[in-house]
Amino acid sequence: MSNLRAEHYPRMSKLRISTSAVHDQLDKKIMDQSPFASQEHYGLFLRYQYHLMNYVASLYQCDQLALMINNLKSRDRTEQLLADFQDLDMTQPAQVISNTQFSASMHESLGWLYVVEGSKLGAAVLAKEAEKLGLHSGFGARFLAGSGADRGSNWRQFMQDIEALTLTVQQEQEMLNGAQAAFKFANQLVELSYNQAPNLTTDVA
Ligand code: HEM
Repeated sequence: MSNLRAEHYPRMSKLRISTSAVHDQLDKKIMDQSPFASQEHYGLFLRYQYHLMNYVASLYQCDQLALMINNLKSRDRTEQLLADFQDLDMTQPAQVISNTQFSASMHESLGWLYVVEGSKLGAAVLAKEAEKLGLHSGFGARFLAGSGADRGSNWRQFMQDIEALTLTVQQEQEMLNGAQAAFKFANQLVELSYNQAPNLTTDVA
């Protein structure tokens, strides 16, 4: 939860603690693929991220969620991801799973958003690895760079928005369930994405 004091963010603490094991599992699964061993490995890592962002795209377009989370639409990093594909002369992959299959209640969606927004914190660490491949916020690692210097304040705003919501016990539980479901999906997606044949691609628009 970055360096912010947990007692001021009880809901965020619940989210982090309840998902810490599945996060570690996912972190290990991704690192086992040596995503920064070469540009080719990095491309496969980007492809994984693309499938994830594509699957949850509707979250960032949801008007109801935008009433709860500040700057929701501008938090979406799909554009940066597509620019990375172009920088690296990569084609946009065909879907391994249709995003029409994404289904979550409003409160579960908050948990999904926690997972995808939180991944920007880990991305700060990963961006340093990408630098060793010569990639940075202006070329090839735009997605990992995200909002750059604003990363901390965007995350703080997200945490404050989550804490400020009026939720029943059941709604909060739905949010926690949504975060679990998101990490479960992100874990399963590693196999789906890494097993995708290299030629299943479409041209970047
Ligand atoms: C190899 C891949 C990954 C590594 C090494 C990694 C590493 C990290 C690190 C170091 C943090 C804490 C950063 C901080 O507190 O400042 C973090 C936070 C987080 N990461 Fe990851 N991460 C990885 C992938 C992912 C992915 C793919 C997701 C989601 C799809 C994800 C979701 C999260 C979430 C939700 C948090 C916030 C936890 C909290 O403080 O509440 N991470 N990650």
